[in-house]
Amino acid sequence: QSGPFITPSLLACDFGRMRDVLDRIARIGVQAVHLDVMDGRFVPNLTYGPPVIARWREATHLVFDAHLMIVEPERWIDPFADAGCDTLVVHLEAVEQPWPVLERIKARGLRAGIAVNPPTLLRLDPVPSWLALLDSALVMSVMPGFGGQVFDPSVLSKVAALKQARPGLRVAIDGGIGPDTLAAAVATGVDQLVIGSAFFRADDQLEVAWSDLNQRLR
Ligand code: DX5
Ligand code: ZN
Repeated sequence: QSGPFITPSLLACDFGRMRDVLDRIARIGVQAVHLDVMDGRFVPNLTYGPPVIARWREATHLVFDAHLMIVEPERWIDPFADAGCDTLVVHLEAVEQPWPVLERIKARGLRAGIAVNPPTLLRLDPVPSWLALLDSALVMSVMPGFGGQVFDPSVLSKVAALKQARPGLRVAIDGGIGPDTLAAAVATGVDQLVIGSAFFRADDQLEVAWSDLNQRLR
């Protein structure tokens, strides 16, 4: 895949019809989905965990990128790997040292990523050793916990800093991305755009919404 691409966040879809949702989005050409895992502690909201993801795994071949908004993510690597996740993204704020967690994710054969909340400053000078272990970085453009929040453009400086510190690293952005905010993120060098409400709000016209959002990337 060349150029920036969109990954739908399932947070905004109808959890009561998940097989149907997964089928429909696979049919319109979506390759991967972003799974928002929340524990009610790292963030003030609670979603779902490994047993639920394991059932979705039986229903689809879509790539599963799990965004773990949980404390002590190192305790949950094996359950999420066993559930069929392809990527595990843990929060920098939730780990004491990123590298042991990243190494354990990669030892399970999964892609490993680090997410950073808007207030978190990234110290990239000198370049930290764990940066080399990353398959992706996820820059949060809202405080995590809920969909449908307003995009914070001040986080784009972190996108630029990550691209400079490690050219070629996949940098994703998550929160408040839609028709009005996508261009600014792409212009800063974002590779992957996580989109929840701006995609799923068109529930009966997902194909139209998908092609419209993708048009805006070019
Ligand atoms: C926020 C989640 C996001 C969320 C994005 O805590 O990490 O992935 O689903 O939703 P929108 O696109 O509505 O901001
Ligand atoms: Zn997310």
